[in-house]
Amino acid sequence: MNIKASITGILVGLTSLLVSHALASDSSSVTFLDKNARFHPVVSQHGMVVSQEAIASQVGADILEAGGNAIDAAVATGFALAVTLPRAGNLGGGGFMMVYLAKENKTIAIDYREMAPLSANRDMFLDSKGDVDNNKARFSALSSGVPGTVAGLLYALEKYGTLPVTEILKPAIKLASQGFKVNYDLSDSLILASKRLHGHSASKKYFYKKQGKYYLPGDLLIQSDLSSTLKRISEQGGSGFYKGQTADLIVQQMQRSGGLISLEDLSNYGVVEREPVCGTYQQYSLCAMPPPSSGGIHLIQMLNILENFDLQDMGHNSAAYLHHLIEAMRSAYADRSLYLGDPDFTTVPISQLIDKTYAKSLSQQINPLKARLSKDVNPGLDRWVESQANESEETTHYSTWDKHGNIVSNTYTLNFAYGSGIAVEGAGFLLNNEMDDFSAKPGSANGYGLIGGTANAIQPKKRPLSSMTPTILFDSNNNPVLATGTPGGSTIITIVLQMILNTIEFNMGIAEATAAPRIHHQWLPDIISFENGISIDSLSLLSQMGHNLSTQTRVLGSTQSISRKGNNLEGSADPRRQGAAAVSQNH
Ligand code: DON
Repeated sequence: MNIKASITGILVGLTSLLVSHALASDSSSVTFLDKNARFHPVVSQHGMVVSQEAIASQVGADILEAGGNAIDAAVATGFALAVTLPRAGNLGGGGFMMVYLAKENKTIAIDYREMAPLSANRDMFLDSKGDVDNNKARFSALSSGVPGTVAGLLYALEKYGTLPVTEILKPAIKLASQGFKVNYDLSDSLILASKRLHGHSASKKYFYKKQGKYYLPGDLLIQSDLSSTLKRISEQGGSGFYKGQTADLIVQQMQRSGGLISLEDLSNYGVVEREPVCGTYQQYSLCAMPPPSSGGIHLIQMLNILENFDLQDMGHNSAAYLHHLIEAMRSAYADRSLYLGDPDFTTVPISQLIDKTYAKSLSQQINPLKARLSKDVNPGLDRWVESQANESEETTHYSTWDKHGNIVSNTYTLNFAYGSGIAVEGAGFLLNNEMDDFSAKPGSANGYGLIGGTANAIQPKKRPLSSMTPTILFDSNNNPVLATGTPGGSTIITIVLQMILNTIEFNMGIAEATAAPRIHHQWLPDIISFENGISIDSLSLLSQMGHNLSTQTRVLGSTQSISRKGNNLEGSADPRRQGAAAVSQNH
């Protein structure tokens, strides 16, 4: 095989001069690398797949090598991750796929987000006192929305792919039936999740050895029931999941565990192809996921606000720069809490939220020297519209890019790592706990501290508001230059924002943009999260300006990105989490 995987490792930190073990895919591509760069990407002139798990990236790259396009590779990678990255790769969850079609120069947004079951209701997570029962919302069978992943991946393949579903599913079926070697990351994460997963017999059986013993690195994990489910999908398409045996197994699991998903819910599940939300930043343009994701709107809104300042002049991760970022984040997340929800149920004022003059008015509320308090910052659109009249831990992202220039930027999830923790007995896969992304009660925070209201209240068939932000960036000639996205719950939008600013404002290559330390603020709670590696000087100046800093550093996200520089594709698997890989196609 002519494809070599390059696995990026370990940690990013204060002394992060050496982070990436990324090797050029062949010796000839080394000449294209920037000699001054401290972080190097994987390079290819053909095609590339970057995902959180190396075997799955290889599956996608093999599909490219076999003549498949970026969509074929993305769908094969998605099904492979459902086997090799069970905490986030999934059949029982949902997600969003941005597709760029080179020939038509067109970007498409595929919404395969979970839907609330028909018998769901607004107050289903409230206890007798009217308080939110977080256990019910996050860790019970009631926490699962109707899964969208299988429908979404098959939709993308049928409409935009080129290879037969049997060929696309073959690698995933083989990985499940013959097993694959557990890596450190999977072994660690299963140990961490053991308390929760041991509570459910099927989950314990599928992800632990006899007597609940752990799989250690190098052990073979075979998932026979999952392989049978994948075979049914391969043979029957969507009906192999949403009808017949798999559907019966899901409903039986619901009945045993007290969940709501019915046969009717499953057969009614629908993928929606939506207009992406697009905006500009300086001479660049970008397209990202529209509602039911809040990601695209608030990414563009923050860029619009920040376009009013000379960020380059402030310097990367200086106190002044971070201050402006935080204030833009504060305004955007305040708006998110009020205006965002499923567009099929609530009117989301998209064009107003991404309006440049609205952003300008928000930028004028930023005092360059002083932090605002979030309690004094309210959702701002209504006031702005009046003045105009006077005059949501674990998701996974992957990117694929083929030699024709087609691109996929895909983020999908079970919500928390291993979702609700409940696997479907007999079917081999875990169910999501995405219902917690709804606002169970106005003003109550979800698992990511996000506050919402009526726009994101639970209703049958509604999709919970998301922060997932698969994004594609274009240069001034309208040529795509970057595909990116990340896990991280509420932090997703601000991480993608920093990837874009690192690229545009600070001219960083994709590997450096990925490794650079990140911050996050989401209006409420009024606190700055930051990674190791942000200068202590910047932090102390921020504190003097009145910002509230969290007491501990945290790791923010795990981007899996591909950029284009001239004729080269440059890929970077985020070094923050183990096991990720950028794999290039060499022919
Ligand atoms: O859709 C959302 O916004 C969340 N369910 C994403 C969850 C997530 O990113 C967890 N990962 N760390």
